[in-house]
Amino acid sequence: MIVFLKYLKFLLPVITAALIFFGCYPRPVGPPGPEGKPLAWTEMNFEQRKAHMRRKVLPPASELFESWRPGRYADANCTLCHGPDARKQKFSMPTKHLPRLSGALLLGPEFAQHPETTRLKLNRLVPLMTDALGVKPFSIITRRGFGCYSCHLGPDGPVFGN
Ligand code: HEC
Ligand code: HEC
Repeated sequence: MIVFLKYLKFLLPVITAALIFFGCYPRPVGPPGPEGKPLAWTEMNFEQRKAHMRRKVLPPASELFESWRPGRYADANCTLCHGPDARKQKFSMPTKHLPRLSGALLLGPEFAQHPETTRLKLNRLVPLMTDALGVKPFSIITRRGFGCYSCHLGPDGPVFGN
């Protein structure tokens, strides 16, 4: 115990730094705001969000989809995720245009029916999006954060606070 306390003095700054780094969302990923500091996704206005999507989301996302099913996503655009009436729907997400998922917390039915897509989404698309937007990834403990249901609806509508 004594030994532990002795080391705590040195460990504390490291632990705090790690908590700040891993716990600090949303991250500043956008253009500079009025005070000159980069804006977080949540602080951007509609026009800034559109520009951010065009520059930071669409290129890596279409590349990822293209690697999944080559030839089908080469000229993907905003409608890939937002649907054909994206503009009319004001780009609101999640959208009924994408297939509805089961709502199961651990994605049992999705892994059973679409193992490949589910792995690709979980391991690559969700991290790509949370990086690009600087937002917190979905946590199965808090049941909140960016995940499948930030894009897809559940059986009866939005789930997990989306
Ligand atoms: C890979 C999927 C994907 C693509 C492609 C995509 N978006 Fe998005 N977009 C999202 C998701 C997911 C959100 C919701 C983010 C969140 O959780 O706040 C979003 C949110 C937005 C918002 C904010 C809506 C609001 O209510 O504030 C705008 C505006 C937007 N997108 C515009 C665009 C435009 C313009 C394009 C094309 C250049 C585009 N998006 C391409 C997934 C996508
Ligand atoms: C950023 C938005 C986004 C996120 C996050 C997302 N998806 Fe998707 N998903 C899509 C898009 C776009 C398509 C449709 C592709 C198309 O139309 O060809 C799709 C299609 C699917 C499909 C149908 C695949 C098929 O065979 O056509 C399944 C199943 C699916 N997603 C599961 C998931 C799961 C599970 C997660 C979470 C681990 C997830 N998605 C996260 C955007 C997203």
